[in-house]
Formats: sequence, C-alpha cells, structure tokens
Amino acid sequence: MRTLLIVCACLFSLVLFAQSGGSGVPSTAAQVTFNKHVLPILQQKCQSCHRPGEAAPMSFLSYQATRPWARAMKTAVTTRKMPPGGLNPRYGDFLEDYTLTDKQIETMVNWADGGAVEGDPGDAPPPVQWVEGWRSKPDVVIEAPPFDVPATGWVENLDIILPTPFKRDAWVRTIEIRPGVPAVVHHAGVRFVPHRDGVEYGVPVWPDIKRDENGVHVPDQEKPALVSFCSDDSKKACPVDEKQFHGLNGGGGFDGFYRPGGTPLDYAYYGTAYLIPANSDIVINLHYNPNGRAVTDATKIGFTLAPEPARQLRMVALSPRGRGGPGDRDNGSNELTERNNAAERAWFRIPAGDPNWLAPPADMLFDADTELAVMSIHMHERGKDMTYTLLYPDGRTEVILNQPGYDFNWQMTYNLRNTIKIPKGTKLRVIAHYNNSASNRYNRNPNIDVYWGEQSWEEMMAPWVGLIVNRDVDLNKVLVRNPGDEKTFVARIGQ
Ligand code: HEC
Repeated sequence: MRTLLIVCACLFSLVLFAQSGGSGVPSTAAQVTFNKHVLPILQQKCQSCHRPGEAAPMSFLSYQATRPWARAMKTAVTTRKMPPGGLNPRYGDFLEDYTLTDKQIETMVNWADGGAVEGDPGDAPPPVQWVEGWRSKPDVVIEAPPFDVPATGWVENLDIILPTPFKRDAWVRTIEIRPGVPAVVHHAGVRFVPHRDGVEYGVPVWPDIKRDENGVHVPDQEKPALVSFCSDDSKKACPVDEKQFHGLNGGGGFDGFYRPGGTPLDYAYYGTAYLIPANSDIVINLHYNPNGRAVTDATKIGFTLAPEPARQLRMVALSPRGRGGPGDRDNGSNELTERNNAAERAWFRIPAGDPNWLAPPADMLFDADTELAVMSIHMHERGKDMTYTLLYPDGRTEVILNQPGYDFNWQMTYNLRNTIKIPKGTKLRVIAHYNNSASNRYNRNPNIDVYWGEQSWEEMMAPWVGLIVNRDVDLNKVLVRNPGDEKTFVARIGQ
C-alpha cells in the first residue's frame, strides 16, 4: 500500500513537470486556454460592454484583442472590480448574473499566470450574435436631437420631451435606449406622460442650479429656474417658459432605462407588456459624464411591440422618509417646508468624514397582493451599500437583495429569475449606508457635509421596484409609501 502511494506521488510530479515545461507553473494554469476556458466566460460576463461601440474602452471579442489585457483582467476579477455590479450571492437569483463564480475567477487567474495561451481554435464556442448596438430587435426607433457633450466640466441632468411614435395605445415588450456615444452616457431613462398642448418637443432643459467652482450646489438657493440653450448663443443658458415643459422629475422611476452594458427589460419574460397610452409624450432623462473628449451624442429609443397582455409590470420609486420637513423624521409631522432651505437639507445630511452614515429608510407597505420582479439601486459617489428586506404579515423577514460594495459608476437594475409573491400586508424596507470619509476612493472631498442633489457629488437614495398587477389595477391603490413612522413600521430590521 505504502509503495503504491509513493509510486503514485512520483507519477503525479512527473506529469506536473511535463505539463508546466519545467517552469514551475502549476499544471492547471498550463491547461487553461483562451478558446476553451476563457472565451465562454468573456461571452457571458464581459462582452456586453467589452466589444466595439460599447462602454468599455477595449474589446474582448478575439484572442488578439484580449491577450494584452490578461494581467489587468486577473487584477480586475480578483478585486471584483469587474464585471461591475456583482451582488452578495447569498441573496436573490437574477437573470443577468453579474457575479463571477470563484471557479470562473480561478480560471482567469490561471490563464493569465499560465502565459495567456490561445489554444485550439476548434475549442472556441461560436461567437455571440450581438445585434449591431441594440440588444433587443426594435420594431420602431426614434431619435432624440443631438447633444454636444463637452470634453470636461459637468452637464446638468437634463430632460428632453419627445412625441411618441404611436397614435393609439401601444403595448411593448421592450423599450431600449441606445446612446450614440455610450462612453459619455452615465445613464438614461424614459418615462411617459400625458400629452399637453403647447408642449415644446426636442429641447433639452435642466434646472439652473447655482454651483461653486467645484460644481458643488450652493446652499439655500431659490428653486432653480428651468433653462435651455439661448436661441442667440448656444453656449449660454436662458430661462424657458415652464408651461411648455411638463412631466419632468416625475419621480416615478423609469419605464425604460439604460446603463452601460445593461440589457433592456423584457416584459414578455414575466408574461407582461408595457402600455404606452395613446396621446402620451416621452420624457427622456440623460445624465452625461464628460470623459475628456468633446462628442456629439444622439440617443435612440427602440420599441418592440407586443400583444395586449393580461397583467402589467410597472416601476415604482421609493424615497427615504422625512422629506416633508426638519422634524418629521422624528415626530411624524407632514408639514411642508420650502425645498432647499437649510432645515430641509438637514434631512439628508451626510456628515463630513462619516464612513458609514445610515440614510433614513425607504419604506413601502403593500395593501393588496402583488408580485415583485425588478429591483434597482441608485446612489451617487458616497453610496456604500443597499439592502432590500421584506417583512411578511406572518412575521417572517427575508433579505431579497444586498449590494455590499456599491460602485456609483454602475447603475444596476436586477431582474429576478422567479418573481416574489407579495401578500397583502407585506412591508418592504430599503436601507443604505454612505461613506463620506477619505477611505471612499470616489470621494472628492471628505471634509464637507453632503446633501441631497442631482449631481454625482451630491447624494441620492433612489431605489425602485417593478411590480406585477392585473392590467386594470391602479398601482397607487396597491401600495403606500413611508406610512406611519419609521420606528414602528418595522421593529426588527434595518440598522
Ligand atoms: C457593464 C459593463 C462592463 C462589463 C460587463 C465588464 N466591463 Fe470591464 N470595463 C468596463 C468599462 C466601462 C471599463 C473602463 C472604465 C473602468 O476601468 O472602470 C472597463 C475596464 C476593464 C479593465 C481595465 C481595468 C483597469 O483597471 O484599467 C479590465 C481588465 C476589465 N474591464 C475586465 C473585464 C472583465 C474580465 C470582464 C468580465 C469578467 C468585464 N471587464 C466586464 C465595463 C465593463
């Protein structure tokens, strides 16, 4: 028995030596090839961004293009910087699974360490058939007017109203937003609002927020005017007639959403479709991030038509408690105060240097049975983590999503593989922490308090959910936002 073992061990080391060419590289590394082992992972988890014309700066379609990146890929996957948006794998099962398994990471590490070998082309899986630019196959496409994105500085979050291409009620299975220049579009969203006569189409408008030289929102300013480019000088902003613009900042989440690499929501997957009512206008919201090169972006919106469904899936936004005024987080008062005054700002004040500030929770009570299909995370540069927890009427609690390492570059929407049934009386609590200390690499200035605002260096906590209800149900009757007071709403979860 003993001899046998020794013989085996010798054989094993011989094999090892032979395969590694004597260089001491472990055998597993030498066996890993691009075509057989790495390409399938790239197709599944990387090429949605890493191919020409998409958000990432380099393509991972071919061996030649990928080879120089082998070392960088090893670092990116072991630090979990790439692919972006991975969640805590303990919770939830999502259609687009951004998280690499430990085995996949090991394969990529071994490939890089083993000399990034190409291998037999016959081992390669067939290439993925990406539809040029689009991920869906839209039946109808419209285009927003071109917008000049400067090389540097900042662009306020802007809205453009467009007519819908539909004369009658239209049911769609996908709404896909396709930026002209993905590298400068941080995210984009569309929502549909009832048409109003006199509306001005195709004009970019934004709030004229006063900012200091660092771009930080000057405190205690009046409600900013709505502005657009001046007709006589397109470098300057002039006030617009607000009556000609409507449905901006609807606060209801987005019906169609784009973020780099994302796949548009397929309503048909959930046996639903989305209704664009006759006589609607489209509001497209664009968040540009100048990236060092001046470019002109023209964003397109593509619609894939669907038959009329029995059930619909709608997006609804949650917002943190206590927006009504200085004291209402504590005493339940709903007294409204002027927006942007010092007292209201205190409601969402992240103290300078605080590494783990807990925002007011965003709560929702479900007043009727429904089904949850989609969850989304939206914070800015100080965002640290976000957790969704359900509290069922029988007292059971369930964490349904946990993002432990939020990265503001990526605005992720997570679509559940199987919907979660929500009985009447269920509560949802979303909590988020923020890191306003120097340990947050995105923090431009850990020495200032940070307040609620639209820009990346101001803060937001804007989760939203997609709920499925029968076609004729009014969602506002299904849910209540932030009812009661936060301490009694959920006694046992959230810290
Ligand atoms: C959602 C889009 C997206 C996906 C999916 C994605 N990447 Fe990236 N990747 C980017 C973008 C954008 C950049 C450039 C900006 C940056 O470094 O964040 C990048 C940069 C990189 C870099 C350079 C990092 C550096 O530090 O310079 C590497 C390496 C990389 N990605 C590897 C991968 C690998 C491997 C995968 C799949 C396992 C992947 N990426 C998936 C968008 C993506």
